[in-house]
Amino acid sequence: MLEIKDVKLVRDNRVILNNLTASFDRGQVYAVLGNNGVGKSTLSYVLMGLESHKDYTGQLLLNGDPIDALSVFERAVKGITLGWQEPARFTGLTVKEYLTLGGKRKIPKEELAEILSIVGLNEDYLQRFVDDTLSGGERKRIELASIMIINPEVIVLDEPDSGIDIMSMEMIETVLHRLKGKGSIVIIITHREEIAVMADEAYLLCAGRMLASGKPEEIVEFYRKLCDKCQHINEPVSKGGLQK
Ligand SMILES: Nc1ncnc2c1ncn2[C@@H]1O[C@H](COP(=O)(O)OP(=O)(O)OP(=O)(O)O)[C@@H](O)[C@H]1O
Ligand SMILES: [Mg+2]
Repeated sequence: MLEIKDVKLVRDNRVILNNLTASFDRGQVYAVLGNNGVGKSTLSYVLMGLESHKDYTGQLLLNGDPIDALSVFERAVKGITLGWQEPARFTGLTVKEYLTLGGKRKIPKEELAEILSIVGLNEDYLQRFVDDTLSGGERKRIELASIMIINPEVIVLDEPDSGIDIMSMEMIETVLHRLKGKGSIVIIITHREEIAVMADEAYLLCAGRMLASGKPEEIVEFYRKLCDKCQHINEPVSKGGLQK
């Protein structure tokens, strides 16, 4: 179980994460739904423990143990993984080297081909380089493939569909089901309703706070009604808002 307790992060005198509290169980897919600028990516960086985001207050617990003091590397060793909103480029590294950690991970070619086929790519991609010669959507697919291979304990996917065409929503759903089936905690960060409804549970993030949690359809309904018209940018909602 992953728990976020009263996490607060301030930038330029602005409260970006505002006493944010949430918890996530294994073998479940969660959506964190919220508009642009509400703190979604910031939350993912805090969970990963990026050096630039270690100055938060509050607590993060993985299976009951605090992880706040752990570096990004130590958190990665514990199985916390981030799929970046904008996936990284690795100049000079082939897709095969990337997926097998430069050959350190022994993975049969058939398994690599199967994982690639799930994300809609063929074996020819193994020889391609993980740099700008791949399109943004292709890099995103390769990143999803690598997450399926690592099979981490906690997976945070920041806008898993960014750069991926609407026709491939089914592919994302297949990836989520596979990760869930392996017992991971899957957290999808999104502003898209179509993605949020793929989850088992959803949180609504607004102005750095989790305003509500519940079934994705219910949270999407709140989002559609209230967030679309919402004028406040990183200001707390009025009292008696959506807090359940
Ligand atoms: N280092 C920083 N200095 C100042 N403001 C920052 C910093 N990092 C993030 N912010 C602000 O914090 C807010 C949340 O940013 P964040 O990237 O987490 O939003 P988001 O919910 O991921 O948005 P999007 O849907 O556009 O990806 C934004 O208003 C952003 O401008
Ligand atoms: Mg973001």
